[in-house]
Amino acid sequence: MQKQHIVMCNELIDKLRIEKKLSKKEYLFLIKNREECKEYLFKNSSEVRKEVYGNDIYIRGLIEFTNYCKNDCLYCGIRRSNKNAQRYRLTKEDILLCAKQGYELGFRTFVLQGGEDPFYSDEILINIIKEIKLNYPDCAITLSIGERSFDSYKRFKKAGADRYLLRHETADKYHYQKLHPKEMSYENRIKCLENLKKLGYQVGAGFMVGSPYQTEENLVKELVFLENLKPHMVGIGPFIPHKDTPFKDEKAGTVEITLFMLGLIRLILPNVLLPATTALGTIDPLGREKGIKAGANVLMPNLSPVNVRKKYMLYDNKICTGDEAAQCIECLKKRIDSTGCKIVTSRGDYKGEKSNE
Ligand code: 5AD
Ligand code: FES
Repeated sequence: MQKQHIVMCNELIDKLRIEKKLSKKEYLFLIKNREECKEYLFKNSSEVRKEVYGNDIYIRGLIEFTNYCKNDCLYCGIRRSNKNAQRYRLTKEDILLCAKQGYELGFRTFVLQGGEDPFYSDEILINIIKEIKLNYPDCAITLSIGERSFDSYKRFKKAGADRYLLRHETADKYHYQKLHPKEMSYENRIKCLENLKKLGYQVGAGFMVGSPYQTEENLVKELVFLENLKPHMVGIGPFIPHKDTPFKDEKAGTVEITLFMLGLIRLILPNVLLPATTALGTIDPLGREKGIKAGANVLMPNLSPVNVRKKYMLYDNKICTGDEAAQCIECLKKRIDSTGCKIVTSRGDYKGEKSNE
């Protein structure tokens, strides 16, 4: 590595911090030379996080309420073809109990996440959303239940849902087709994200790092995609193979590139809500702490009942699924203290222009 490369990288990072965008060539140069400039990137990205959000780390209580899924994404452990998955559904009462316990622990955002499970009709979900809002009017509700119609999204919003997570998974149509069965389409995914924005949700997009067939050029595409979409939240984590999927023998994504992408995303979207994900904590015992130091500002501990946690296995060896899981929040608090940040219990809304258009 020539000294000149380091200087060029650092200049590009300065430029990105000011202009919040780079050309594709410049992004690629940074990604290729990441080893030499990552410390400088993380210095900048953590400064930007601090400028916008101080040392506050927001927590979201994740309620994984169903692992039934009608889709068959090639990477996902709860895909419909996985006959080894033990399927479960939480009742409304189960979900309300999770929310109650979460509220008592200090959570002010609940993320209702599940596979695409038609058992939960719009009516059933609306009923659950309304009840949570009635019991906890000071809390935000985030949905993460995949692709639905504009009309359904509209009804959920009216019922009280505030935010919606829908990772686009990859910003390249051809790459998308390699990760998904033919009945799923990139176009519909993007349409859903647009619909959610139009309806006034705080919207989260995101992708896997190191998914099969992903190239460095694909990573550049991700950054350009995010520049244009300007989502309020971005969920990224390493791809991790699951033993009962067609991708079981594929290589996992790395901590190192995931952290580098987190840093770049913080500079492109200074206000973004950026989780240090469970997948990152799974491939590296200190992954989430490292994620915070790279610019992340959100953690999403699990609030699902302990007896179903092992069943929501999107990938192998997922952390925080054992008996000790109930103490997750205490464990996380200690871990975050070690980064110089602190967990706060506010709703943690997006700190930018509301529409983010
Ligand atoms: N490895 C990492 N992340 C995965 N997801 C699904 N399967 C895997 C896997 N094998 C991610 C997807 C999905 C989110 C809920 O979990 O990005 O959107
Ligand atoms: Fe369920 Fe991908 S397998 S949405």
